[in-house]
Amino acid sequence: MTKSVKVIAPASVANIGCGYDTIGFALEGIYEELIVTESEAPGLVIESVEGASLSLVPEENVATVAASALLKHVGGNQGFSFQIKKLFLPGSGLGSSASSAAGAVFAVNQLLPSPLETRELLPFALEGEAYASKCYHADNVAPSLLGGCISVRSYQPLDYFHLPLADELKILIARPYAEIKTAEAKGILPTEISVPTARNQWGNLASLIHALHEKDWDRLSNSIEDYIAEPVRKSLIPCYDKMKEIAMANDSVGYNISGSGPSVFAFFETDENLLSCKAEMESLFKNENIDCDFFETRMSAEGCRVKP
Ligand code: HSE
Repeated sequence: MTKSVKVIAPASVANIGCGYDTIGFALEGIYEELIVTESEAPGLVIESVEGASLSLVPEENVATVAASALLKHVGGNQGFSFQIKKLFLPGSGLGSSASSAAGAVFAVNQLLPSPLETRELLPFALEGEAYASKCYHADNVAPSLLGGCISVRSYQPLDYFHLPLADELKILIARPYAEIKTAEAKGILPTEISVPTARNQWGNLASLIHALHEKDWDRLSNSIEDYIAEPVRKSLIPCYDKMKEIAMANDSVGYNISGSGPSVFAFFETDENLLSCKAEMESLFKNENIDCDFFETRMSAEGCRVKP
């Protein structure tokens, strides 16, 4: 009998401000779905992509690029077909390509005669992400695959670890309508930084990690500032500074760009603060005549999983 599996691959927030390319977390309730089915003929086929205009050519789609890397590793000549449902848009800063890459390797692995451990799939998911963003970075793909909040120490060799999950914080995501490709948002970053800037950045990153361990939200708020990506990327995001003012006026304990944007995230301790921030941002975008979507979410311990 032909075997098939349907999986969920969560969206993620990368960087958390000062942790450019090194920290990210999985999100609750925002995800992509993939159905992968064994086929009799060898090779990979993309039957459909719903919700976004993406290539159906296997060599040009992150899902099948990642799945190919896994299949090359395990050997054999099995064929699979893919149905991809993008439930959040590519180019939004929520790790869409990472979800596709992680979901694809997770789904194919379920159908292998000798499946690997989920954590062993990360290098193959990274191949898909690297195809999309022209750079190896695991701060979206690792949390999407494995769940939780993950810090990546090194890529050669790949070394990462889970940080405590701040799932008591409420998270507002605002996604103004603008598409930002990660490869382009990486291209505008400085190629060098000064030692004083690096010192500010690693001071903040060390403090942010301590804040997550201690659940010290005042410290989190003081540590999140990013000296590398935010200063140049914010100009790509409609109303970035105005949203920041609104978030801080509503006692956000951390606001910054989600991944390479245009989505931004704001952490809150209370629903009241989150909702009043959301209402003020909604009226900001209405006045500016710009469309913006909002998501209320949290950090999630769950990564890719089979959808019953
Ligand atoms: N860490 C990556 C970046 C995430 O900021 O470029 C991309 O979503």
